[in-house]
Amino acid sequence: LSTSRVRALLAAPSSLGPTGRLRVRVPPHLDLVPRVEAYLRQRQLTEAPHPLGTLHRRVAPELQALTDGPLSKASTFVVPQTPAGVWNAYAELMGWVADEVLGTDLVFEASPSLRFHFPVPMPDAYRSPAGDILAQHSDTLLGDYFEQINGWLALSPCYGTGALAMASLEDSLALLEEFASGFDYDETTYFSSRQRFFRHMLEDERFAQRVRSACRPLELEPGELVLFDARTVHGTAENVEDGTRVSMDFRLLRVGDYDQILEAQRAEGVDARVWGGDAQLKGGYFHAHTVAERRAAL
Ligand SMILES: [Fe+2]
Repeated sequence: LSTSRVRALLAAPSSLGPTGRLRVRVPPHLDLVPRVEAYLRQRQLTEAPHPLGTLHRRVAPELQALTDGPLSKASTFVVPQTPAGVWNAYAELMGWVADEVLGTDLVFEASPSLRFHFPVPMPDAYRSPAGDILAQHSDTLLGDYFEQINGWLALSPCYGTGALAMASLEDSLALLEEFASGFDYDETTYFSSRQRFFRHMLEDERFAQRVRSACRPLELEPGELVLFDARTVHGTAENVEDGTRVSMDFRLLRVGDYDQILEAQRAEGVDARVWGGDAQLKGGYFHAHTVAERRAAL
């Protein structure tokens, strides 16, 4: 059962259409850039946050360094207490995505990541002996639902090595299919296989080369939002541009998909998977309310 399910999920059509990707421009009244600039001032990370794309020239080096992991000290998980009302602006954006982009009520990530990707060396966690960063992955390898939609919002110009590197859905599915065939599509293995995917790239140079050439920079202007199928292979590169990339990323589920997932979990008597200590449920990893429920509660 678990074998056929991973294969079926990898073969399923994308709810975002054949490319598994939607690119839209956020309307000016929902622009998060002024909030993020206010956040930087209120956290006293810099007195001169504007423009975000040259922040690395004004933010102290110790706030840029990636010493503890993939996030600089300036980066944060956005919560309702985050300065400058960033969380509320995010929730308003989710409302617009529900109404105008996807046309359905949504379950959305409770604490999205606000990332400042400075031009500094990446940590060595995903570095090959040859020195390349092999951080490419699909969020499904970390246990995220296959039905999930990833959102990625550019807040500064995103280009070259500062941009998120991303494969087409077609290439992603071929890579994941080949990878998962190596452990007979075992579901438990699949949903905790990010390290295994990295090791597979280290051990199989031909596979690593396919991943590298499939992942191309997702070049975006500030205010452009990309929604992509969670099966998409993507990764942060080592930023060697003369530019700071600022972005926010978050995960969504259509309410219909969420309800079906929960129903299946109940029928099988299994618990939701956990990510970073939070169950992948409303009130856990996802906000307690859907977009519509939040509006009704306001
Ligand atoms: Fe990811």
